[in-house]
Amino acid sequence: MTDRYLEFTHSPFGRALADTFGLPKPPRLLRAKSGYLAQPLTEQNVLFGLARAGELATAVLPALAAAGAIVRVVADHPTLADIKQAAAAEGVSLKTEAGLEDKAGTASAFVFDGTGLASVDELRQLYDFLQPRVGRIPPNGRVLILARAPSDAATPAAAAANAALRGFMRSLGKEIGKRGATANLLEVGRGAEKALAGPLRFFLSPHSAYVDGQSLTLSAPPKGAGMPNNFVGPLGGKIAVVTGAARGIGAAIAATLAREGARVVGIDRPQEEAALGATLAAFDGYGLPLDITSDDAPQRIADELDQQFGGADIFIHNAGITRDKTLKNMSPAAWDQVLGVNLGAILRINDALLRHGLKDGARMVCISSIGGIGGNAGQTNYGATKAGIIGYVKALAPVMAKRGGAINAVAPGFIETHMTAEMPMGPREVGRRLSSLSQGGLPIDIAEAVIFLASPLAAAVNGRTLRVCGQNFMGA
Ligand SMILES: NC(=O)c1ccc[n+]([C@@H]2O[C@H](COP(=O)([O-])OP(=O)(O)OC[C@H]3O[C@@H](n4cnc5c(N)ncnc54)[C@H](O)[C@@H]3O)[C@@H](O)[C@H]2O)c1
Repeated sequence: MTDRYLEFTHSPFGRALADTFGLPKPPRLLRAKSGYLAQPLTEQNVLFGLARAGELATAVLPALAAAGAIVRVVADHPTLADIKQAAAAEGVSLKTEAGLEDKAGTASAFVFDGTGLASVDELRQLYDFLQPRVGRIPPNGRVLILARAPSDAATPAAAAANAALRGFMRSLGKEIGKRGATANLLEVGRGAEKALAGPLRFFLSPHSAYVDGQSLTLSAPPKGAGMPNNFVGPLGGKIAVVTGAARGIGAAIAATLAREGARVVGIDRPQEEAALGATLAAFDGYGLPLDITSDDAPQRIADELDQQFGGADIFIHNAGITRDKTLKNMSPAAWDQVLGVNLGAILRINDALLRHGLKDGARMVCISSIGGIGGNAGQTNYGATKAGIIGYVKALAPVMAKRGGAINAVAPGFIETHMTAEMPMGPREVGRRLSSLSQGGLPIDIAEAVIFLASPLAAAVNGRTLRVCGQNFMGA
């Protein structure tokens, strides 16, 4: 569904009207125009800041340079000598920030390594790095803060300082969202440093246009699961399955998996067979029309994957339904259907896949919702299933890691699909505007996050839920 208000405010008349009445002007988000490039940050200035005793410069600087970025540093940055030493050790050339007034040298992305922060006073280093520049963050700019998980911090004071970064990042996201710029945080566990290149490419590029105000924890990847040498077509040669692939978010996920080189198997209800066929035809996908809640679905899926493809490398549990009613008025059927499709089917299918139909190293992604985080009136059934997914991926993560793979979830906010087009107009407008980016996301935004989590770029991500909601206030 088109966001008519966004389009209107980008017309000369609409812009003038919005200015006159002080109405919000949702920014136009810059989204990726193609699959992953070898150098997605080519010609982009990325300003790097390092807190005293920060530990990630030797991992971050070469990753940025390999992605094509022009890595800049601030001339009077307190840790400049440490950054230069790390750059020399890694063979990375640095440029000094061209000055706050120099437009050509203005950074479009800011990366601050806060892993060394050990006290409240030291948080001032982050303020000094970003405060003079925040007014100059360009449209669709990026701020990415790196931290240690507070639970990994050596002292309570270091835990406080690292935890403070979360609140800083979320508040900054709300300040800069008007420009389509985003702020996010990576909590880098010990051993995850070597797998930072993938998350940097995702979070600093247009692939993450609608991911805002989020913190994602990275942990040491399982043995053998490293970063790809070449980031182009990261899913080349993989067999990737998507449920609910006929339309909406599932169709976008299927197309995007294919864009990155995967052979796609699409599943949807038998009554959607024609729509499923039309979606898959665009990239020669393989259709499997079945109802995922039917008794024989788990066995049929596992058997078909084994027989036709020798097993799947990627499985995306996307199919989902709503049957909204207040709990007082909710019928047992509405409860059972939502629980069955959105959660029960995932567990039953995975029980079968863990026996056969899935290759070692397989990565799974389940689609949750911010409704499972913040809750919505009239969605006790839906909210239960989407929160259930978050707990489930956490619990299954060690099992998947033992097989060299991973399972994660994506929690979409308001996304322009058939599902949200059916909402009454009032809540639909509220759902769209109440986010830092003051607009709904598109199915491609969810697909981009799914592709990141399904690919080796996210080798260090397991058991996590990434919200893709433009920092929607409803799931806060
Ligand atoms: N649209 C949003 O704003 C939004 C927000 C948060 C989460 N989500 C989640 O994203 C996922 C996709 O949502 P969407 O908006 O694209 O929905 P949609 O209704 O447009 O598409 C869902 C697809 O799943 C299929 N499906 C439903 N039941 C099935 C079954 N029993 N067996 C096989 N296929 C089945 C449908 O036929 C349909 O093709 C869902 O899990 C939904 O809960 C969507």
